[in-house]
Amino acid sequence: MVCVSRFKHQIMLGQMMAIITLIGSLGTSVVNIAMANIQFQEAKIAFDRMYEFASAKPETESQNKSKKFRTDNSSTSLNQLRVENLNFRFPGKSLLLKNINFNVKKGEIITLFGEIGCGKSTLLSILQRFHSFESGKIKINNENWDNTSLYQWREKVTSVSQHVQLFNGTILENICLEENPDAEKVIQFCQEYGFHSFIMEFQQEYATIVNENSTNLSGGQRQLIALARALYSYPQLLLLDEATAAMGRRTEHFVIELLQRIKTDMTIIFVTHRPQLARYTDRIYVIEDKTVSAVGAHEKLIQINQFYKDAFLELVDNQA
Ligand SMILES: Nc1ncnc2c1ncn2[C@@H]1O[C@H](COP(=O)(O)OP(=O)(O)OP(=O)(O)O)[C@@H](O)[C@H]1O
Ligand SMILES: [Mg+2]
Repeated sequence: MVCVSRFKHQIMLGQMMAIITLIGSLGTSVVNIAMANIQFQEAKIAFDRMYEFASAKPETESQNKSKKFRTDNSSTSLNQLRVENLNFRFPGKSLLLKNINFNVKKGEIITLFGEIGCGKSTLLSILQRFHSFESGKIKINNENWDNTSLYQWREKVTSVSQHVQLFNGTILENICLEENPDAEKVIQFCQEYGFHSFIMEFQQEYATIVNENSTNLSGGQRQLIALARALYSYPQLLLLDEATAAMGRRTEHFVIELLQRIKTDMTIIFVTHRPQLARYTDRIYVIEDKTVSAVGAHEKLIQINQFYKDAFLELVDNQA
């Protein structure tokens, strides 16, 4: 029958149904084979990442055991941080930071100002010793920072990063990062530094639970808690990377006033795109074309260059 119908260029209904069913099941199998390759590639990337993470050397142990830290000057406080002719590149990439020079003393706030992608956050990461630089020097109190162990350096430095990371726990736990928090101590700290009234605005106050991805908090609230956490460790060097970018005016104003009040006890480096914030700091370092292209107080930078004049005045005008 089949042969006859083929010969006549005809197809029976049953045959047609059989062919369609066959193509349908074959099609699914072909798609599955194609998808298997994608899944394999994804698994390979995940495996590579896991391998990279698992094979990373524990930095603190290896560095702290080094003999050269016997003369650790960790007990001395950080009075001055000086970066001299620093050059940095990510492996296999072109130079990102070239001949970077700046210095900051205890009691000062300096601003690093620059266009997106110019290396501001990277510079802060270098200061936290997350990356090694290619050449140049970083000096602490006029001594090479190699004389300070990594562990002791990290005890002095705290940062509020551009992408705040909070943990699934109460606001209280997120501030003190302790397993058994001393609530009284944390609340006293918040009252002293002015965070208390902001935290009391939450429904469960200090006991408010922060979700897995902090989705129940606004960007500004997250930044405020991250700042409280950073200050709770009483750092000697505070690195703020766009730390007020998501805040409203009232909160930002509070932070600026707070920084002015506490700066006598520490050194603060503030990264911002916003000149109206930079004007409250002692010195502004402008990073442009991979290097520090201008240094000065807000007013001085307005005077010296049309570029800064435009950038700074435009935003100051917007604020008014
Ligand atoms: N881990 C990394 N590996 C390779 N390149 C990186 C890495 N981190 C950052 N970069 C690159 O380095 C450059 C500087 O990045 P960085 O985050 O320091 O800029 P930024 O000045 O902080 O920018 P923004 O103002 O947008 O925050 C960017 O081009 C970025 O893509
Ligand atoms: Mg950045």
